[in-house]
Amino acid sequence: MPNTISGFSKLSKSEKIEWLLNTYFTDKDKARSLVQGYWNSDDKLQKLHDEFIENTITNYYLPLGVAPNFLINETTYTIPMAIEESSVIAAASKAAKFWLDRGGFKAKVLSTEKIGQVHFIYNGAYDKLKAFFEFVKPKLIKETASITKNMERRGGGVLDIELRNKSEDLPHYFQLHATFETLDAMGANFINSCLEQFATTFKTEALQFEYFNSEEQNITIVMSILSNYVPQCLVRAEVSCKIEDLKSKDIPNPETFAQKFEQAVRIAEVEPYRAVTHNKGIMNGIDAVVLATGNDFRAVEAGVHAYAAKDGRYTSLTHCSIEDGLFKFWIEIPLALGTVGGLTRLHPLVKFSMDLLQQPTAKNLMQIVAVAGLAQNFAAVKSLTTTGIQEGHMKMHLMNILNQFEATETEKTTLVTHFKTNVVTHSAVVEALTKLRGLD
Ligand code: MEV
Repeated sequence: MPNTISGFSKLSKSEKIEWLLNTYFTDKDKARSLVQGYWNSDDKLQKLHDEFIENTITNYYLPLGVAPNFLINETTYTIPMAIEESSVIAAASKAAKFWLDRGGFKAKVLSTEKIGQVHFIYNGAYDKLKAFFEFVKPKLIKETASITKNMERRGGGVLDIELRNKSEDLPHYFQLHATFETLDAMGANFINSCLEQFATTFKTEALQFEYFNSEEQNITIVMSILSNYVPQCLVRAEVSCKIEDLKSKDIPNPETFAQKFEQAVRIAEVEPYRAVTHNKGIMNGIDAVVLATGNDFRAVEAGVHAYAAKDGRYTSLTHCSIEDGLFKFWIEIPLALGTVGGLTRLHPLVKFSMDLLQQPTAKNLMQIVAVAGLAQNFAAVKSLTTTGIQEGHMKMHLMNILNQFEATETEKTTLVTHFKTNVVTHSAVVEALTKLRGLD
């Protein structure tokens, strides 16, 4: 087959790049120089990044920005955000400043339980399986002692293991459903190691359980894996103020603003097409902080969206109320985050982000991330229900368009000033640049 290769991962980095260039590129020198241009000049640092994954050829940059002025539970934070979308950090910063003058954000961790499951097939009487589970449960815990020792010393570990009968959903399907407290660790390796040990013990012991017949003894372990659905690892963040205190330069009529804002949130609660976009805006803030702090944004995304659909219909993750003249806006989301282990001590910029956040515990980080999501959503819904999103978005996007046309610094300065009082559209920018260059 053309363009396939075996043993690719065994090649050196240069050999891999040469194979790619020879196989896919006509201008090899240009492609090579692009790939190499993104290498870090510090060989040691580059090697660290090369070794995060397999088949690294270069680095893929995302901007790391910061949003200052976040007042969360009486502490001020400057929040690091890794994101490519031009308006996200500007929006977060604006929302932070807005609420800084109105009491800030209040955040609370509601629960921190994580989940893992051993999925297995059992062909036999359920009563006997239940009896076997009760018999083997202490042994399941005991045989993970070497894995759980350190975690237990710090106050975490396995919380419980339940047997769950899923055979009505899928013939002969059962689970060991285990819950864990992993403290400041995201805990993926810890949980998966415990689960694999549970599975081994469970299978081995079943083979010797005298009340099982030979078919019952032969349990098939299908897989052992943590769940990224963590509805009991919850954090809540909130802002509130008197309606009249919402008054600001952008909000001349706070009563109308509050009502329209609340309506927009209600729409996201009842209309999935809107809810998905509404929540996407929340994830703009959440993913950016999750990424900057070296956490797994795919895990967070999967868990958050499942939570948004937990009642059988996809709905908004934020809610709003207006009662007795008080405007209240809040979010409740599951966030399984870690501040030790994984990339958190390895990636130099993650270490920097953790320093910037004053070495948060996992619980602190859950609060900060939830606040970033709420702030982002506040900024988006505020724009949508007042000026519309494009005004702010296109102002931020202006620089991308100018860079696309390789504008000089002088051209940029002139056009940024020009577009302070003119509507930014792609064609308006091209027209203004052409005129400036005297090409029209
Ligand atoms: C764009 O990245 C996010 C928004 O669409 C979110 C929203 O509509 O609420 C602006």
